[in-house]
This record gives sequence, C-alpha cells and structure tokens, in this order.
Amino acid sequence: MKVFVKKGDIEKQAAHVLVIPLFSDIQNSDEDLGKVDNILGRAISQALEDNAYLSKEGSISMFFTNKRLRADRVLLAGLGKSAELTTEKIRKLGGSIARHLTGKNAKDVAVLGFGLGLKNIPLDRATQALVEGFLLGNYTFDTYKTKKDDDNEKNDKKDDNEKTHQSKIESLQLIPQNEFDTDRMQDGADLAVVLSENVLMVRELINKPANIVTPEYMAKFAKDLSRNTKIKCKILNLSEIKKEKMGMILAVAQGSKNEPTLVKLEYYGARGKPTYAIVGKGVCFDTGGVNLKPTGYIEDMKDDMSGAAAVFGIVKATAQLKLPVNLVGIAPCVENHISGSASRPSDIVRAASGKYVEIGNTDAEGRLILGDAIDYALKSKPDAIIDIATLTGACVVALGKEISGVMGNNQELMDKIMEAGKQTDELMWQLPLLDFHKEHVKSDVADIKNVGKGKGEAGSISGAAFLWEFVGKTPWAHLDIAGTAFSSEDKGWISKGGTGVPVRALVHFLQHLA
Ligand code: BES
Ligand code: ZN
Ligand code: ZN
Repeated sequence: MKVFVKKGDIEKQAAHVLVIPLFSDIQNSDEDLGKVDNILGRAISQALEDNAYLSKEGSISMFFTNKRLRADRVLLAGLGKSAELTTEKIRKLGGSIARHLTGKNAKDVAVLGFGLGLKNIPLDRATQALVEGFLLGNYTFDTYKTKKDDDNEKNDKKDDNEKTHQSKIESLQLIPQNEFDTDRMQDGADLAVVLSENVLMVRELINKPANIVTPEYMAKFAKDLSRNTKIKCKILNLSEIKKEKMGMILAVAQGSKNEPTLVKLEYYGARGKPTYAIVGKGVCFDTGGVNLKPTGYIEDMKDDMSGAAAVFGIVKATAQLKLPVNLVGIAPCVENHISGSASRPSDIVRAASGKYVEIGNTDAEGRLILGDAIDYALKSKPDAIIDIATLTGACVVALGKEISGVMGNNQELMDKIMEAGKQTDELMWQLPLLDFHKEHVKSDVADIKNVGKGKGEAGSISGAAFLWEFVGKTPWAHLDIAGTAFSSEDKGWISKGGTGVPVRALVHFLQHLA
C-alpha cells in the first residue's frame, strides 16, 4: 500500500472512498469536512444530528456520494469521546476500516485529518497508529489461493488479464487539517510503514505451513533479508551445531529428516552503546515428539516458530530505522517430529553449557533449543537477553490470547518491555519467577529437567525457570507468546493466523531505551 500525506482541493480528491473520522463529544469542525458536507447538501451533519451512533467508538458507516464528489463513497468512522481517545483505539479503527473495505472496490482511500480533536496524543503518534491499523488490517494470508476470495462477481466474468484487482486498498492518502501538520504526519506514517512491513513479513512467514517453512527455509529467509543491509547473517548447519555441542538442539531435531539450522543476525547501530541479544524459538512444526500432541492441539503448530520470525522482523526494522543500538538476533530452527530416531521421555543429554538435562517430556522442546541458543548468545557478551517463544499452553490458560507473559531476572528490563507493549497495543503481563522456582526444574537423575512439578503446576513459570539456568548473571526477560502469536479471528489490526507480536513492542523498546 502506498501511503502519503497531502493537502489539496477536497472536491478533486480522486479517491474511491473518503474516510471521515468523527468525535462524539466535540464539534467536528474541520474545514474540509465543512466543504464536503456542503457539497453533499449537508448530508453528513444531518445524519449526525439524527444518528448519534455514527460517531461512537468503532462505528463504521458508508454511503454513496452520487458522484457529487470525486470520491464515490464517504465512510464515517466513529472515534468516540475525544478525551478518551487512545492510539490503541485509532489503530483498531484503522484495521476495521481496512477490513470493511476489502473486496469493495476501494483501491484508493483518503482520510480526513483529525488532528484538531486530539487532546493527549501527539499527531505523529496518532497518524502512526492509524496507518499501522490500515496496513495490518488490510492483510490476509491468501498466497496459496489462485482465486482470491474477494474477487467480485463482475470480475469473475472477465478474462484473467483484464481483471482489475479489486480486493485490497492500494493507496492511502492522509489529508492534514493544516499545511504545517504535514511533516509530523509524514513522520508518523513513515514509521508505521516500516513497522507494518516487517510485521507483515513475520505474519507471512508464520502463516506459511511447515512443508514449506523448514529450518533450511528459515535460514535462507534470514540470509535473504540481510542482503544489501547493514545486517550480518551467519548460519550454523547440522555439523556446526554438532561442533558447538548443542546437545539439546540436536535432541529435539533428531526425529526429523529436515536438519536443524541456527541463525545469527548482527546489527551494530552504535559502537559503545549496549548490545541486546534477542533469541527466538524456531520450531517449524511441533508434533510434540513421542509425547505426541492430540487432535485439537496440533493443528496450529506451524506457528511454533513465531519467536524466531519475530526476531527476523525486529532486527530488520531496527536496521531500516537505523536505531542507535546493537542487536544480536539468534534463532534456533528445528522440527519437533516423531520417528524411529526421535528422543524419548527420560533421555539425558548434555547441553552446550555443560549441564546434563533430563528430557521429561519431548513436547517441552522449546526450552531445550532456547537453552542452547541462549548459551550461544552469551558468547556475544550482550548487556541483556530477551527471548521470545511460543513456550507454554499454560500461558494461554493464564493470560489468554491478548496478553503475552513476561518473566525474567531483571525488573527494570521487564518494566521497560511491558511499557513498550502498552504503547504499541501489544499487551504483556508479568508472572512471578522466584528463586524457589528453580527447584521445579531439578532432576533426580541429571542437573535439570525440562518439565516442572506435578501435572503442570505453574507451567509457564517452570518453562522460564528452565531458561534461567542458561542466562547466568546477564539481565534477561522471557516473553511467552504462546497465546498472542496466532489468532483464530480477524479483529482490529490483527488478522487470522500469525499476528507478528511482539515486533512493534520490541522495536519501540529499542527506540526508547534512553
Ligand atoms: N509449542 C508448545 C506450546 C504452545 C501451546 C504454543 C499452545 C502455542 C499454543 C510447547 O512446545 C509445548 O508443547 N509445551 C508444553 C510443555 C509441557 C509438556 C511441559 C505444554 O505447554 O503443554
Ligand atoms: Zn511442544
Ligand atoms: Zn513448541
């Protein structure tokens, strides 16, 4: 989608749809809105007088202009009370509008500025949220549909080569209320475009199934994204993983004929500034292994590489934005499969760190590969480590599908990450991780084991406690995105399938370190 900020003659705006954001508690007194209303014979003000719901938060209504404007339709979008407006609400509304317009022959969309009604939100941030909503809500995973769902009937009758692709928004114009708003709106829009592009890249990678996205595919993907950038990319293949003695990665990978890879991305944006290691779980498919997952739990397990995909998106966005930080992104990529060569419950393996690990359950594979990957990340001497993983079903039970779990050994780091989550509408909540939780992962027969106590007591915390064994004294935060990585529905800026969480949150975190 092409996004641009431009003020012009409102009557000549050649968009298919003109979006008019409306507040419910203040006069919507924009000059352009006044003109449009007059041209339409006061249709908008009349409608607003008769129907209070039009300006309610989240309300969307569209009507035809009878070609009295160049735009053939006007879409009224309710923002609710101006004092209660948040960037989350704007982002959600942007997503809903984009989805509302999908398949409705709305290639070019223009949005009237709403800067005058903003009370607590800077114009650039409001614009950013709106554009993010549009770009993210405009996405559907249809790469493997030869006939797109939203091709309309009129199109169906045409030959393939004369079809106009009518499905999605192709350009978005933002119309500032004042000429001098243009730059600030452009800044917000530019940032939104970079972030959203990367979120969409991550979504697409998650959504592609595991027969396509193998550990080798992940490695090639990382190589490709680093080409012609300031990002360095190094790949470890099976024999190099063996040389590193990453016994836990090897144990998970040994049941699959597709060999594991380990991706290392490096971006140095400012020598002398802190280095963050971001480690993402890259299980391309999680069958559970010998502890096989049953029907109802296995179907979406192509999403078990969402942490690794997020690492790719975060590093790429950080490099594109030229942020003054240093990043090391690590993604161990494997398949957790079942076969004659698969690991068994009770197997004992030696981790790269030297610890002996009892595999109590082959389905707790994420913490195994992450333990070795964290150990590898420590070689870069990072100032902090953040890991991102679809780690535990228990986290979905505890926090649901809207909130990621946060655990770690450093409150300041966790607080900053959670604040970034709040600012970006990618919510996170902290779960406790206390010294005694280390007892949960003690093994009778080895140093540690990959399952906790009882029948999954505090399952998310046990997962974190296991990872804690590998971080040493380095400040560390663990993000459990088992619930938030994948959505079963289209909702606001979220689309069915991979969500791209927590790319925007962590880029925001890196951007606001100071
Ligand atoms: N990939 C799963 C966790 C998961 C569950 C992600 C649901 C997304 C949605 C993970 O590898 C797993 O299976 N964890 C086990 C751990 C248990 C065996 C200790 C779990 O949560 O049941
Ligand atoms: Zn598993
Ligand atoms: Zn898993």
